[in-house]
Amino acid sequence: MKKVLVATDKPFAPEAKNKIEKVIRKAGYQFTTLESYTSKSEFIAAVADVDAIIVRSDIVDAEVLEAAQNAKIVVRAGSGYDNVDCQAARERGIVVMNTPGQNANAVAELAIGLAIYGIREFFSGKSGGELRGRTLGLHGFGYVARNVFRIARALGMKVIVFTRYSKSAAAAIGLKVTDSLEELYRKSDVVSIHVPARGEHLRSVSYSVLQELKKGAIVINTARKEVVNEADLCRIMEERPDIRYLSDIEPDCKAVFAEKFSGRYYFTPKKMGAQTAEANTNAGVAAAEQIVAFFEKGNVEFQVNK
Ligand code: 3PG
Repeated sequence: MKKVLVATDKPFAPEAKNKIEKVIRKAGYQFTTLESYTSKSEFIAAVADVDAIIVRSDIVDAEVLEAAQNAKIVVRAGSGYDNVDCQAARERGIVVMNTPGQNANAVAELAIGLAIYGIREFFSGKSGGELRGRTLGLHGFGYVARNVFRIARALGMKVIVFTRYSKSAAAAIGLKVTDSLEELYRKSDVVSIHVPARGEHLRSVSYSVLQELKKGAIVINTARKEVVNEADLCRIMEERPDIRYLSDIEPDCKAVFAEKFSGRYYFTPKKMGAQTAEANTNAGVAAAEQIVAFFEKGNVEFQVNK
């Protein structure tokens, strides 16, 4: 009997877990979980005899994969798979998948929530501003950005985007695509970052784009801290006291922020973007179904390490 492990340092909502378990058991597989674990050795011990692994942002490195001697597939229940060593998996013949789009609305709602929190002066009692009529710049145009666009439009925002790979999708819905990242940052009152932590996106939010920010601009990061050049971010925060930065996960330079930029930033204590029952259910059930389709039909539609 095949054995599927759900290993989540940050557990799924209970209702999501129940639904994942149902899919796995209906296929006739064994279901097991490892939640809120505190050491890598627990994870390594748990993968020893499993055929498939479902994770969230849990680190699946070469050591974990080496310990997972029976594993044929790892599914990252979510979008970003920078936590999985895809090459090491490929070398071992292990298929890696993600579940694109399944938690996008949850992340988008958080991005808008952070934008409101920032523009309303962090609910501090100070008079703030409103999003209606302001320009939102989407840095990237994947599933999350498209949901942010839908919500922002309903709020009466003007939306522009910089994207290299989804230009026609953006243009098809009437979005203005800027010629450069610099132009996006120059024209936006609120910038929302939606690019993955790989390739040219790594540290792409650098001084050359940040220096273009409009007076009083707000930067929202619900993507990954690695897409921001943190030294440059600290530099612009220092030079431009009008800039605010809100992020779903603390940057490595959080101590500098605490010391110097009080009242101009907010970091979630843990990555919260996909932390809703709905997103957990969508991503978790999709992961379980993808595992069943892989074993039963050889379906590799969502493989990311081909
Ligand atoms: C993702 O990449 O899907 C999001 O960042 C959510 O990550 P999480 O599952 O760790 O909350």
